[in-house]
Amino acid sequence: MANKFEHVTLIEHPVIHRDLTILRDVSTKTADFRGALKRIAVMLAYHALKELPLKTFDIQTPIEKTQGYDIDQEIMVVPILRAGLGLSDAILQFVPDAKVGHLGMYRDEDTHQPVDYYSNIPKGVEDAMVLVVDPMLATGGSADDALTFLKKRGAQHLRFISLISAPEGLQLLGKKHPDVHTITAAIDEKLNDDAFIVPGLGDAGDRYFGTT
Ligand code: PRP
Repeated sequence: MANKFEHVTLIEHPVIHRDLTILRDVSTKTADFRGALKRIAVMLAYHALKELPLKTFDIQTPIEKTQGYDIDQEIMVVPILRAGLGLSDAILQFVPDAKVGHLGMYRDEDTHQPVDYYSNIPKGVEDAMVLVVDPMLATGGSADDALTFLKKRGAQHLRFISLISAPEGLQLLGKKHPDVHTITAAIDEKLNDDAFIVPGLGDAGDRYFGTT
């Protein structure tokens, strides 16, 4: 689906289209699922961190002095458990000194509402660039809960990264968190009666951890 959402960046790339197909295919084995998810995660993180501030300093190359750069803001990755762990692992390869916070929540199968069961957010969340990561944005309830929780802890610079988003979830985030930019690899058609994304990829956590 085309991107009609102002606060959303839809990342399109041939490699992402190929990897999304691997993720969507019901016959994909766990190892291939993990590989495809991690490759897309790095591409999304690359875009999410594009506007990080830089500081400069002098370095000496083997030839002469030149200007060096370092990132001038703390980065914190916050996976929504469980499925978000696949994304955070991949992103840490890209920003290996980032802090990691964890938010545990699962979606109640009947009410489709998120149920919180764990939180551990490191110090420094107020000033950090916080990447909240979850492969699936369905109703948006889990992401809304996570962002609200982090804002109460003082987070001010938030980005949300999802592999596949439903229009319903994007609409909710736009309404409740217009200050939070979402970076996604796909905007799917809709939610079905069980609040699963259509066509989607099923349950990302179960497929990533091999628990189906
Ligand atoms: C899935 C998914 C999101 C949430 C999306 O998690 O990974 O966290 O549901 O749904 P929502 O936008 O309607 O809130 P799930 O409950 O399956 O938990 P899991 O990651 O432990 O499998």
